[in-house]
Amino acid sequence: MADGEGEWSYSKNSRRPEIYFRETKPVVENAIKEVYTTLLPKTMIIGDLACAAGPNTLLFMSSVISTIVEHCKSSRDDSVELQFFLNDLPGNDFNELFRLIEKFRRPNITGERAHLPPFYYIQGLPESYYNRLFPRESVHIFHSSYGLHWRSQELEGLESWRKTYLNEDNIYITKTTTPFVVKQFQKLFYKDFSLFLKLRHEELVHGGQMVLIFNGRKDEDVYNGDLNKLFALVAIALKSLVLKVVVYVNYCIVVFLLIFISRCEGRHEVKKF
Ligand SMILES: C[S@@+](CC[C@H](N)C(=O)[O-])C[C@H]1O[C@@H](n2cnc3c(N)ncnc32)[C@H](O)[C@@H]1O
Repeated sequence: MADGEGEWSYSKNSRRPEIYFRETKPVVENAIKEVYTTLLPKTMIIGDLACAAGPNTLLFMSSVISTIVEHCKSSRDDSVELQFFLNDLPGNDFNELFRLIEKFRRPNITGERAHLPPFYYIQGLPESYYNRLFPRESVHIFHSSYGLHWRSQELEGLESWRKTYLNEDNIYITKTTTPFVVKQFQKLFYKDFSLFLKLRHEELVHGGQMVLIFNGRKDEDVYNGDLNKLFALVAIALKSLVLKVVVYVNYCIVVFLLIFISRCEGRHEVKKF
C-alpha cells in the first residue's frame, strides 16, 4: 500500500473498501451488539486485521463505539471498555494510521448521543495474520475487510517458472491462464484460509464473532466473471504502456491477482460457541 497522505497514498485512495465497509456495516454492528449483550465483557477486545493506513479503520472503530453507546445503558464508570488492536504487515504505514487516529480522537464522534462513549484504547499490531496474534481465547470480535485475498507467500517454485512467465502477460485469469496456474493459486488460497481460521478460532473467546469481508465469485467457472473481463482490459492497458515505454522497458508483468478463488454466495455467519 502506498504510504503517507499524498495524492497516490492508500489513505486518499481507499474508496472501494469504504463502499464495502458501508454495505456491510449492519453486519458488523449486529456482531458487536450480540457479543456485547450476551457476554457483557468488562473489556472488549477487538482486532481489525489488515487495517492498512486509511480512513476505513476509523469508520470501523467509530461504528463499534456508536453501537456500544447505543446498547450500553450503564453509567460510564462501570460500562465496558474497548481495546482495539489494529493489525497489518510490519511494512504498513502505522505512522500515518496513528496520525489519522489523532484527528479522529479530537472531535467527540458520539457527542450528540445521550450516553458518553466508552473508554477505548488503541494498539498497533504489526505482524502477519498467518501467525498467532493474540493469547488463546482473548478476543471478542475480529473484523477484516478487503484483505484476505492477499496470499501468504509467492507460489513455491515461482522463481524458476518466471523464465516462462507464469501467467504470461495477464494479471488475472484469462483465456491464456493455464489450469495448472489456477490450481496452484487455489491450493494456496485453501491452505492460507484454513490456517487463518484455525488461528483465529484459537484466539476467539467462546461466543465471540468474526466479520470477514472479502470478494468471492458467484460462478463456479474461474474463467468466467466480470472481473476476468475487467482485469483482462487492465492487463491490455498496462501492456500498451509497456510497449510505449511509458513504463520502464524491462518491466515485465508478473503480478497475478487471483482474488476470486472460492465460490461464495451471500453471507455466512461464523460464531464460536
Ligand atoms: C486493501 S487493504 C485493506 C484495507 C482496509 N481494511 C480497508 O478497508 O481500507 C489490504 C491490507 O491487507 C494487508 N495484509 C495483506 N496480507 C496481510 C497479512 N498476512 N497480515 C496482515 N495484513 C495483511 C496489506 O498490507 C494491506 O494493508
